[in-house]
Amino acid sequence: GAPVEVDISDVAPGSLKTVEWRGKPVWILRRTPDMLAALEQTADLADPASEREQQPPYATNNVRSVKPEVLVVVGICTHLGCSPTNQPASSDNPSLPAGWKGGFFCPCHGSTFDYAGRVFRNKPAPSNLEVPPYQFLADNRLLIG
Ligand code: FES
Repeated sequence: GAPVEVDISDVAPGSLKTVEWRGKPVWILRRTPDMLAALEQTADLADPASEREQQPPYATNNVRSVKPEVLVVVGICTHLGCSPTNQPASSDNPSLPAGWKGGFFCPCHGSTFDYAGRVFRNKPAPSNLEVPPYQFLADNRLLIG
């Protein structure tokens, strides 16, 4: 599939845009300072350093991205391929664990991911959400693929 160019100037802090790349949904989330602060917490993560799957080198840092504020991940659960949903810290979804700081929740079997796409322990998804190959062409222009 061809690379996809995306204008992210319309992605406000805290909001998420979905684009399609190779038939897959790719999420682009502009993280707020609060979202980034929540990523400091790594105790309950299954693979905090993203060592289980091959990752682009820029995805092995704590925030798993080229720019700290911009998360780019494939929005497909690494368990059996369902579509997780965005669950902000304010979510009242009763299936979320206590102390939820915001992230993604897979409705199929309950896997949860933080706002770096890192999977929490003791749920069926084995690895973090995939980070696709991407680069910035300009401050607000991404090339995915
Ligand atoms: Fe997401 Fe099973 S497919 S938890």
